[in-house]
Amino acid sequence: MDKNKTIEKLNECLRHEWTGVAQYAQAGFVVAGLWREVYSDMFFDSAKESFGHAKLVGEKIVAMGGIPTVERNPVKQTQDLSELLNFAMEFESKAVKLYTEALGLAAGDRALEVFLENILEEEQEGVDELTRILRDPKAVSASLGASKVG
Ligand SMILES: [Fe+2]
Repeated sequence: MDKNKTIEKLNECLRHEWTGVAQYAQAGFVVAGLWREVYSDMFFDSAKESFGHAKLVGEKIVAMGGIPTVERNPVKQTQDLSELLNFAMEFESKAVKLYTEALGLAAGDRALEVFLENILEEEQEGVDELTRILRDPKAVSASLGASKVG
């Protein structure tokens, strides 16, 4: 295992998690209409999950001798619920990709593999849940229509 390359990749994961903290909190703030009752909490829970992953990864980077990044990527912003959900799907899919890449670099270090697998499983659950939500785009657009009526 190339330790420096692995730390670099873990920092890429951390940067993505910091992005998630800001992006999901923003989504929780701005989501409007009747469905705000459902999605605001969901987005804030996702922000908390990102912070939880950031904490795990930051601690691991230090344990490996690295410095955890404080940078994040640009946040995708919108007030449209459909777009918020699609941005969330993009975010979770990228997280799956990044942790899968990190796992590739960690090959051979069983403890680090298990550590990354546990996070990867949660990222994939995010993708799966959004897939189930977005399977019915009519439900999302209907809710937007309903919220406009009110
Ligand atoms: Fe995460």
